[in-house]
Amino acid sequence: MNQTLQLTNKRILLGVTGGIAAYKAAELLRRLQDNGAEVRVVMTKAATEFITPLTMQALSGFPVHLDLLDTEAENAMGHIELARWADLILIAPASANFIARFRHGQADDLLATLCLAAHCPIALAPAMNQAMWRNEKTQDNILSLEKNSLKKKNIHLFGPDSGSQACGEIGFGRLQEIPEIIKSTIGLFSSGILAGKKVLITAGPTREAIDPVRYISNHSSGKQGYALATSAMEAGAEVILISGPTQLPEPPRVKRIDVISATDMHSAVMSHVKDCDLFIGVAAVADFRPANYTKQKMKKDGTGQVAAIELTLNPDIIASVANLSPKPFTVGFAAETENLVTYAKQKLARKNLDMIIANDVADPKIGFNSDDNATTILWKDGNVKLPMMSKQQISNSIIELLATILK
Ligand code: PMT
Repeated sequence: MNQTLQLTNKRILLGVTGGIAAYKAAELLRRLQDNGAEVRVVMTKAATEFITPLTMQALSGFPVHLDLLDTEAENAMGHIELARWADLILIAPASANFIARFRHGQADDLLATLCLAAHCPIALAPAMNQAMWRNEKTQDNILSLEKNSLKKKNIHLFGPDSGSQACGEIGFGRLQEIPEIIKSTIGLFSSGILAGKKVLITAGPTREAIDPVRYISNHSSGKQGYALATSAMEAGAEVILISGPTQLPEPPRVKRIDVISATDMHSAVMSHVKDCDLFIGVAAVADFRPANYTKQKMKKDGTGQVAAIELTLNPDIIASVANLSPKPFTVGFAAETENLVTYAKQKLARKNLDMIIANDVADPKIGFNSDDNATTILWKDGNVKLPMMSKQQISNSIIELLATILK
């Protein structure tokens, strides 16, 4: 695993509040970026007395958000949108005043409002004078946040540290050291396991045109492939998703390439597979297509006879990938209605795959177009059975397994 990119694909909203430790937020911002995170900054008015928004803007490469009622900023990215954009709101330093306002759910400035509107976890790194930290009112606020954290697991406290303070006093209240804040931030995501890896995934069905209005296809919804793309992205990978026609929205931070037929999918895969570490073929690719595409809509000929449609073989996309040299670690899915493991093992060998994930598509609760799946994973060194669970959970487990094998 690339140790320096464990926050790849993570969006962090860095909230800076007023206190002498605010200058350390500039260093924190750089270290978050070094770890692959995309960072946007929100500052309270008091914070701007200690460090300029210009510094944070220059370092982040994006305008700093300051006011709740700034029409220009709202036009660029509204405050609700900004709250939803973030995977984490990290407030460092978090002043005693901000902690009190946050605890009471006030919405009296932009940062406090964003915290109320956010669905993502919120981490606070307190920094204040040791007497202010020890004050029973602050401690009461902290206790309340800790209790909330135990209940909902979405509020986290990083520090504070103990030591000498800018005011000359000694005690608890120092901002936690930046490397510690970075470590705790990475810990919140338990991610980065595929950081630095490039992953190509196919998903959905293909459509094989008979004439301008008819096609041959199958029941794949794309759910399993899209869920895997999301898991791989969350694990820090650069993900390209080559998708047949589906009703699903593009997963965030994934590059989606839309295709229709198996031959389109084959060309798209072959032109993007270079430099990929991992290929996962989830698409239900049509094995055959009509040998002759009819340019005009086929008509009934009035004799009561139905025209036979001659079929021809489509390219085997995953076999083409598995026969490249060098080839990415190549994972196929096997959609079977009987003899699950036997047929899957045959496909693993015949297509020269590194791993195959077999699912029983005869059961309507799992397989095509269901929200759940259950799979048997087979590879050279082992096998794992994943019982019925959501396609997203199955995907998370598959990505964890693949990350261990690729390591
Ligand atoms: O999309 P969902 O509704 O969520 O459903 C998920 C799924 C059931 C489609 C998925 O879990 C699945 O099983 N996908 C593979 C379906 C399939 O076509 O299986 P297969 O046994 O026919 O093919 C084996 C492997 O070869 C697959 O990785 C397939 O992508 C690949 N293949 C097949 C034919 C072909 N011409 N080119 C290929 O690359």
